[in-house]
Amino acid sequence: MKSSFCVALFASALLAFGSACAQQPIVIKFSHVVALDTPKGKGAEQFKKLAEERTKGRVKVEVYPNSQLYKDGEEMEALQLGSVQMLAPSVAKFGPLGVREFEVFDLPYIFDSYADLHKVTEGSVGKLLFQKLESKGIVGLAYWDNGFKDFSANKALKLPADVKGLKLRIQSSNVLEAEIRALGGIPQKMAFSEVYQALQTGVVDGTENPPSNFYTQKMHEVQKYLTMTDHGVIEYAVIVNKKFWDGLPADIRTSLEGAMKDATKYANDIAKKENEDALEGVKKSGKTQLITLSPEDKAAWKKALVVVHREQEGRIGKDIIQTVYKETGFKP
Ligand code: LMR
Repeated sequence: MKSSFCVALFASALLAFGSACAQQPIVIKFSHVVALDTPKGKGAEQFKKLAEERTKGRVKVEVYPNSQLYKDGEEMEALQLGSVQMLAPSVAKFGPLGVREFEVFDLPYIFDSYADLHKVTEGSVGKLLFQKLESKGIVGLAYWDNGFKDFSANKALKLPADVKGLKLRIQSSNVLEAEIRALGGIPQKMAFSEVYQALQTGVVDGTENPPSNFYTQKMHEVQKYLTMTDHGVIEYAVIVNKKFWDGLPADIRTSLEGAMKDATKYANDIAKKENEDALEGVKKSGKTQLITLSPEDKAAWKKALVVVHREQEGRIGKDIIQTVYKETGFKP
């Protein structure tokens, strides 16, 4: 009597434990460095919503924006170690990981439009770059757009020569380093989370970013001029820890792939407008003066910067650069 009671008790405890385990959602920690109110911030929230809906709560996505969890220089290692499962770094940040070919996206003026950019992200180079991540224990899921970068400073940068001697913050890309040197400036690699303060205290004189980052990080409070150079892009690679991804139940992975596909469309559909709205916000603030360029002045920036393409062939690979030229129709 007593022993059968014990068996029953044990069996029901086991059942309760089993169902508690079954109910534990799979958690995806998704860390990024920008504000919520940006194309990437909104894209991440959209992915969370779709992923949780479509897996009926079997997956929980925790989004950590604004470098809350990890900042540049820390997040890739955290992903490889499995401390976070998902990131969306700018493609300018893959050099330190050993996949420097991503820096092809940093070549000045290589893209004229979002359409050009998509030809590459959706073409052979986009695929090749993701293949290169596999040996690092990382899977590339999608490319997300932000927008075209402009230079800012407390000095009016009308022509390339105005950059001479200025310290400009850049992301951790050697191509961007070469870009600033081509202008006679002094490049300073720095984590995104430190840029506002570095501009405020004069550690650097200026920087480059699309309006959405410039505005949401309040850089307009500490930069007097923003020049509409549109000389490069900020593009993101949404990446996951390979071991985690491959270990997911197949039906869950399929649902997440679908959620990512739709979140990608959403993020890329809003990117342009988000940047236009942010630029409007900068204008309205009255704190930063916008410098628009005449076609002649724009040509001067282009001339000063495209020298970087040739110079960086060794780093990126001539074949990759040539393929991008073919895909976008860029003429050096
Ligand atoms: C930067 O570091 O300037 C940006 O790439 C940040 C981001 O993720 O947009």
